[in-house]
Amino acid sequence: MPSGFESVLTTGGSVTEKREYKDDYQDKTLYLPGPTEVREDVIEAMAEPMFGHRMDRMTDLYTTIVEDTKEFLGTDNDVIVLTASGTEFWESTTLNLVEDSMLVPTSGAFSERQANVAERLGKDVDRIEYDWGQAVKPDDIRDALESGDYDAVGAVMNETSTGVRNPIEEIGDVVAEYPDTYFIVDAISCLGGDQIDIEAHGIDAIFTSTQKAFAMPPGLAVCAVSDAAYERELEKDSASWYGGFQRCLDYYDRKGQTHSTPAIPLMLAYRQQMKHMLDETHDARDQRHQEMAEYTREWAREHFDLYPEAGYESQTVTCIENTQGINVAETVEAVSEKYDMVFSSGYGDISEESFRIGHMGEHTVESIKELTDAIEDVADL
Ligand SMILES: Cc1ncc(COP(=O)(O)O)c(C=O)c1O
Repeated sequence: MPSGFESVLTTGGSVTEKREYKDDYQDKTLYLPGPTEVREDVIEAMAEPMFGHRMDRMTDLYTTIVEDTKEFLGTDNDVIVLTASGTEFWESTTLNLVEDSMLVPTSGAFSERQANVAERLGKDVDRIEYDWGQAVKPDDIRDALESGDYDAVGAVMNETSTGVRNPIEEIGDVVAEYPDTYFIVDAISCLGGDQIDIEAHGIDAIFTSTQKAFAMPPGLAVCAVSDAAYERELEKDSASWYGGFQRCLDYYDRKGQTHSTPAIPLMLAYRQQMKHMLDETHDARDQRHQEMAEYTREWAREHFDLYPEAGYESQTVTCIENTQGINVAETVEAVSEKYDMVFSSGYGDISEESFRIGHMGEHTVESIKELTDAIEDVADL
């Protein structure tokens, strides 16, 4: 153990001390920006006897979830469903598509992390820095692309830390004017709850994590990959192994399976939830998320204010500016205690300045209203 860690252990409060996991936790309704609520039958779908990842049954399962995802997203691009959290695709899309340089507009914790991941991988990263709460402006991307050479632009569609929905469609249209520059989109906290035409805006790689608007358990990540991005990787010898587009997609083409052992129970849950998503349709799901977002914004404006720049509010996560000076941490705790509902304080440095409501996945305006009623009661609004 590195010596710096010892003092933490000896001074008490160590996070590595065993705290027994119990079987009697109170159920809580999740209004987090993920993980979010998962349907009962989706949870139950995981409780199947195990089978082998090279059995025919696995091919049935994996080809079903991949093809259903393409249908749901309305894309002919290839789809990878990988056993990982979405973070894996920050790494692998960078490794697969960026030889030297990458442009990353940063406007919150997750876009900053995307830039940081690329730096860690040894890439030359230029940032366009915005204040938290501001949205990325397509004209700034154009200016940067005019003056510099970039292998890729990486942007976050829904900045979960600030509740900003960036204009990814317009940014994509700008990047598309530069055919040698690939466009990587982190849509982790919105895909499935905020519809986007992937091909129309030249998005080469767009990814999400299953615990967000797909409303599945955490543990799988999904990425749609353009033909150009697939080809691009073939030219490179430093691509990701685990998240290599070529390795994942060629294995799918040859066997209809994954290159290594996947989280089979999670894929069973995925199959079940994707059926619900297809039944609802992407259009109706988008509409429902729009209605939840509008309701939440209206409530926020009545009692507080919105944190994001006007006109760029997220469709899946509302970040509310704490204009009333309520004690956010205490309110979150009290709502959890009294109503068994969990929402989020602000992210990092803005934890008391703001708070966040995740209205994604299977929530409805009615279920969101139950939370806002609870907050009103507890915070005495
Ligand atoms: C925008 C965004 N990007 C990346 C991540 C990381 O996702 P994961 O924890 O699934 O790796 C998150 C998680 O909240 C996110 O909101």
